[in-house]
Amino acid sequence: MKMNTCVLLQAFVFLFYVNNVTSVRLDLSAAHWKLTNKNGSIAVRGSVPGGVYTDLNKAGIIGDVLYGFNDVLSRWVAYDTWTYTGKFNVSAADLSTEAVNLVFDGIDTVAFVEINNTPVGSTSSMFVRYVFNVKEQMQIGENVLKITFVSPIEAANIRSQKHFAAPACVPDVYNGECHVNQLRKMQASFSWDWGPALPSVGIWKPAYIEFYNSLILRTVTTHIKKVDSHWQLRLLAYLESTKSNEILQAYFSASLQVEGGQTLVFGGDVDINTKEDKTAEVELNITISENVVRMWWPNGYGDQPLYELNVYLSNSHDVEISHKKLLIGFRTIELIEEDASIKLGNSTSAKGLTFYFKVNGYPLFMKGSNWIPANILPELGSDERIIDSLLTSARDIHTAMLRVWGGGIYESDYFYTRCDQLGILVWQDFMFACAMYPVDAEFLSNVKTEIEQTVTNLQHHPSIALWSGNNENEAALRGNWYSKPSEFNKYKQDYIKLYVDTIKPIVEALDPNRRYLISSPTNGLESEKEGYIATNPYDPHYGDTHYYNYIIDNWDYNVYPATRFASEYGFQSMPSLAVLKTATKDHKDLSLDSEFLKHRQHHPNGYVYIEQQMDKRLMLEKNDTKYFEKFLFYSQISQAMSLKVQTEYYRQSQADWYTMGALYWQLNDVWQAPSWSGIEHGGRWKMLHYFANTFFAPVLVSPRLLLSGDVDVYLLNDRFVPIFDSKITVEFFNWSSLVPIKTESYDAAAEALSSKKQNIEIDLWDEPNLDEIFLRFSLKSDGVASSPYNYIFPKPLKSVKGLNVPRIQIHVTKVKQRRVDNLTEYNVDIRVDTVVLFLWLEAASVDGHFEDNGFILAQPYIRVKYTSKSNMKPQKLEKSITFQYYVN
Ligand SMILES: *[C@@H]1O[C@H](CO)[C@@H](O)[C@H](O)[C@H]1NC(C)=O
Ligand SMILES: *[C@@H]1O[C@H](CO)[C@@H](O)[C@H](O)[C@H]1NC(C)=O
Ligand SMILES: *[C@@H]1O[C@H](CO)[C@@H](O)[C@H](O)[C@H]1NC(C)=O
Ligand SMILES: *[C@@H]1O[C@H](CO)[C@@H](O)[C@H](O)[C@H]1NC(C)=O
Ligand SMILES: *[C@@H]1O[C@H](CO)[C@@H](O)[C@H](O)[C@H]1NC(C)=O
Ligand SMILES: *[C@@H]1O[C@H](CO)[C@@H](O)[C@H](O)[C@H]1NC(C)=O
Ligand SMILES: *[C@@H]1O[C@H](CO)[C@@H](O)[C@H](O)[C@H]1NC(C)=O
Repeated sequence: MKMNTCVLLQAFVFLFYVNNVTSVRLDLSAAHWKLTNKNGSIAVRGSVPGGVYTDLNKAGIIGDVLYGFNDVLSRWVAYDTWTYTGKFNVSAADLSTEAVNLVFDGIDTVAFVEINNTPVGSTSSMFVRYVFNVKEQMQIGENVLKITFVSPIEAANIRSQKHFAAPACVPDVYNGECHVNQLRKMQASFSWDWGPALPSVGIWKPAYIEFYNSLILRTVTTHIKKVDSHWQLRLLAYLESTKSNEILQAYFSASLQVEGGQTLVFGGDVDINTKEDKTAEVELNITISENVVRMWWPNGYGDQPLYELNVYLSNSHDVEISHKKLLIGFRTIELIEEDASIKLGNSTSAKGLTFYFKVNGYPLFMKGSNWIPANILPELGSDERIIDSLLTSARDIHTAMLRVWGGGIYESDYFYTRCDQLGILVWQDFMFACAMYPVDAEFLSNVKTEIEQTVTNLQHHPSIALWSGNNENEAALRGNWYSKPSEFNKYKQDYIKLYVDTIKPIVEALDPNRRYLISSPTNGLESEKEGYIATNPYDPHYGDTHYYNYIIDNWDYNVYPATRFASEYGFQSMPSLAVLKTATKDHKDLSLDSEFLKHRQHHPNGYVYIEQQMDKRLMLEKNDTKYFEKFLFYSQISQAMSLKVQTEYYRQSQADWYTMGALYWQLNDVWQAPSWSGIEHGGRWKMLHYFANTFFAPVLVSPRLLLSGDVDVYLLNDRFVPIFDSKITVEFFNWSSLVPIKTESYDAAAEALSSKKQNIEIDLWDEPNLDEIFLRFSLKSDGVASSPYNYIFPKPLKSVKGLNVPRIQIHVTKVKQRRVDNLTEYNVDIRVDTVVLFLWLEAASVDGHFEDNGFILAQPYIRVKYTSKSNMKPQKLEKSITFQYYVN
């Protein structure tokens, strides 16, 4: 340990042996909590962790906030002043420790804290852990803790009068609130284009009193490097003590469980120098042979071995003082921004820099999507069942990376642990989104603490791939989205002060092995070179891009701009009827021009865009008797096909633009409304999510119909082995028949981890009857099918000829009840007599899940698996299955 010279210069330096009492926690969730409003007209049971909307709903004061118009009808809640009062007992023994701290892991947001009517402090960031020394204020016996919350709407408004930063408000159609950028609070809680405003208050994470002597181990960071045949692991423990400017002697050790049931133990005596603020750090360097641990890989590229690491501080008698347990993984990850001509040689695409992730030394294409909070109420956003269901759904469609978007929250430890276990890399934004931000001293000091705590808390997770400063603020500034061009220089200075001068040094000091990217989208190093705000943050030769275009024909491969890394792109669809019906019981609401559905559409012009996209490719007459149901269904087809085409375009472009990422917007939903999500509120998969399972398949034949009428064929290979001795089969089908008109076969090959344009010539420009045919592509290696089917529909489906109404027969048999999870598996056999498009199965009255859906069928028979929690008769499932499909 390096001595702190400052400490040595001080007049009084005591040497202490740390005492031998391990810290004790009194969890305040068990206290008796009451929630009251300002004038006392409401007094109900409170919960910690919890929040005001949840508690008022439980008490019957307000309804389900996601039902009907309740988001707006319950808005008064956010204007009132709420107080949580908790009573709990402590003993004389508890209070005898040197430190008695009141700790809030998360408090939302502006609040005053009192114990026994004595103020102990205030809070102003929901992203910060607050630790208040309450030894003086606490008493033996009963204690009363009171937390009074300022209305977040008023707090934001008051701050904006002094520290205004654009924009003032969200667009009117959001039914939102103003100045959320003034608060260090979930930015989406004042409304977003995919979600309602629910300006929450509450103690959203655990609160507790901690009692300890001398020291507590607050967090541990793990810095892992590969050096030759060893892993070097540097452990840094962040401590808090009861004394300033002292040297404490302790024993610092770590044990790591490695392969073969071995445990490696490391440790040594340390002198701990406490600083003025009573914090201290100790470190331990460990070398681990690469033979005793296996490497951690992203999903689809390998396994995710995790190893238990225990870190201990003990006193000189070997008695543990404080202890932390972590699961760690061994991997390297780099974001490579280097001269693009290294990958692309002498071509126009070679201008600029690459932008790709190298994991364990391999360039890997990042497939996935963007994560928004699991619940719009932060107190419900860490529900483990829901997080688990969303993350395993992501894993199941080959997700290797999720971007945790900057308008939400830093997710729960459970979230990141599941990402570690499932192999889902996390592109972690800091929580700044779509706004300019104030840079007054109070705000910056809040941000400093937030970044320090967030990075030290999350740093050890192998899943975290990089940190990113904000969502879209570089682009917003360059494009004057929120402010006048004349204000550019002011806001640029503020931008640099916040993301560069304040945040960057903290991240780089605490986590030197991860890249801190200042914004998304950005040109990365090139943006930095251009003074942090690039001339064109969407330059296809640099960094990442976000791309949305609702006017073009999204089923056309030729309309998308090139990019090195697509970190956002998407298209809205409607929720399913079943999910909409959880938000309204009124049949009149089930129409696009109902007040209800207007209320739920926050995207200005949103329904028009959906309809226009649909009209380019599908036929839906306004007078159709099932217009609304079809609109919902077709919007999901339209979204699924748009994202299929766009994603495959990006995967193909690995070949000629070195595009190395496709993260679509967005994985999940917070309410029952039109949105860009692939998974509905409640967990149902939209057609997009099923399609993603195919368009993200590790090996895929991916055709591109050019404007000329030629079809290029790419072989996409995300495996570590090359593809050779393989054949691509191209079948030409008449829409009216399940028997191909002709079948052609071509040699196919692709190197490992590549996209390779195949030497295949298919011209459709001289086909006389393009509206009568479609093409199906597949790959066979040694005669065995080794990729999903893929398709080209040369003409818009609304104008094809010969697509007939099918006869569809469904037969269900039971396979088995699985031992591992008790789910019952069924086989669903589907027989058809003609080509069927987007066959969509539902089993509404039973609880389960089809492994695939939205089928394009050019074969008479397929079998699909269905799994359910209930062990029912197969006839019951068969009876409950209904279906939809597309036909003109
Ligand atoms: C007390 O506050 C509630 C909720 O804000 C309000 O509806 C009620 O009118 C108030 N009562 C009085 C007496 O001011
Ligand atoms: C604290 O202890 C006293 C005496 O045993 C008891 O009356 C009171 O209900 C306790 N308070 C709480 C919050 O448990
Ligand atoms: C641990 O290693 C780092 C470099 O990786 C070095 O800076 C530090 O001084 C080392 N610490 C100890 C206690 O040896
Ligand atoms: C790149 O290619 C162009 C034309 O294909 C050629 O004129 C030029 O000399 C090449 N440049 C280098 C550096 O090879
Ligand atoms: C709907 O309108 C179209 C013309 O736009 C017409 O051809 C068709 O017969 C109508 N269908 C019904 C069910 O009225
Ligand atoms: C498609 O099938 C229809 C009906 O059998 C036939 O009239 C048409 O010529 C076929 N088109 C092509 C391109 O084979
Ligand atoms: C499966 O169900 C049986 C009885 O219904 C129960 O005893 C068993 O614990 C369950 N197993 C799991 C893994 O849930």
